[in-house]
Amino acid sequence: MLGGKKIIVGVTGSIAAYKAAILVRTLVRQGAEVRVVMTPLAKEFISPLTLATLSRHPILVDFFDPEDGRWNSHVALGEWADALLIAPATANTLAKMATGVADNLLLTTYLSARCPVFVAPAMDLDMYGHPTTRYNLDSLKSYGVRVVEPGEGELASGLSGKGRMAEPEEIAAALSAFFARRRSLAGYKVLVTAGPTIEPIDPVRYISNHSSGKMGYALAAELRDRGAEVILVTGRTALCPPDGVTTVEVTTADEMFRTASAAFERCEAAVMCAAVADYTPVEVSDRKIKKDGGAWTLELRPTQDIAAALGAVKGDRLLVGFALETDRERENALSKLQRKNMDFIVLNSLGDEGAGFGVDTNKITILRRNGTERAFGLKSKAEVARDIVDEIEACRAERA
Ligand code: C5P
Repeated sequence: MLGGKKIIVGVTGSIAAYKAAILVRTLVRQGAEVRVVMTPLAKEFISPLTLATLSRHPILVDFFDPEDGRWNSHVALGEWADALLIAPATANTLAKMATGVADNLLLTTYLSARCPVFVAPAMDLDMYGHPTTRYNLDSLKSYGVRVVEPGEGELASGLSGKGRMAEPEEIAAALSAFFARRRSLAGYKVLVTAGPTIEPIDPVRYISNHSSGKMGYALAAELRDRGAEVILVTGRTALCPPDGVTTVEVTTADEMFRTASAAFERCEAAVMCAAVADYTPVEVSDRKIKKDGGAWTLELRPTQDIAAALGAVKGDRLLVGFALETDRERENALSKLQRKNMDFIVLNSLGDEGAGFGVDTNKITILRRNGTERAFGLKSKAEVARDIVDEIEACRAERA
């Protein structure tokens, strides 16, 4: 429920703006105080009078009132709000948000807002699928903007596909869920490792793996959203560091070991999501190794197992690990759980379609030390992160 929450609803120029009326009414009925900021074009799609009546406040569009020069302060608005929700959010507004263009009151409010920001995109399927829009949405997500994903179905253009704004009830539910859960881990200090490590062979070549870092970054964001203080120790990825998380970038397994061990001293829990190289070259050549036409044997030494090292010193702190397996999955995962002294291990199989490296989805089974086991269906990595953090909360509650 949204009792007492102060919400700015930003409305932009999309045909879906008509749904903003139902959205505002739903939010108000759930107890929220709503102020509506419209872009100039949004007024062509829905009457300000409708939204003013439903929100019980005048609509804001301009930087100042042309009649009396009264200033509409975007800074004060941003400070007032518990959340800024832009619904519908057009491709144009998303692009401007992603690049910092501030040519209307809604965009200046977005740039100065310190509160959580939600967007509910609405556009035609090709605009939604365009690489520019994908890129802008990825940038916004990396800045901490939460996206209420559009649904699939009939679009105003007559075409059918993904791009229609989520229904007002779904958007209100996303806000309620956010406010309901956000402080459940307040003050809890958690280390997350993520991404691949890179083991240099010479100045040109290295050994690494396909880890994208997406699962670890999603976990860091979910923990942050619930109020945890997160230290993210990450190998090199193409992702932007999540907002509100202390991020330390490392390269090699040895470096990740030192950084994660030091960070763990300040933490109450650790989630080991990194794909750490098990072996690294014994010698790193400072010159490019020349090919001579023959076979080449590279001597490798084992790296430190970070999870096992933290497991050995963890005491009553919580340790969560991952097992990415291709065969004898449960057996291997259970042996890692024991050997590394983890509280639970998250098993994902490379055999499952949609699970594993690079993709945005994952399919997991959580195996607990106490023998319980929970299998989940194929979900987005953000949703999988929620399931894993729910399990962390359950373990923490059992110890309290
Ligand atoms: O033994 P394996 O590499 O499959 O174990 C996977 C789990 O151990 C993951 O949680 C991974 O992050 C962690 N790990 C680690 N340091 C290593 C190897 C694995 O923290 N050197």
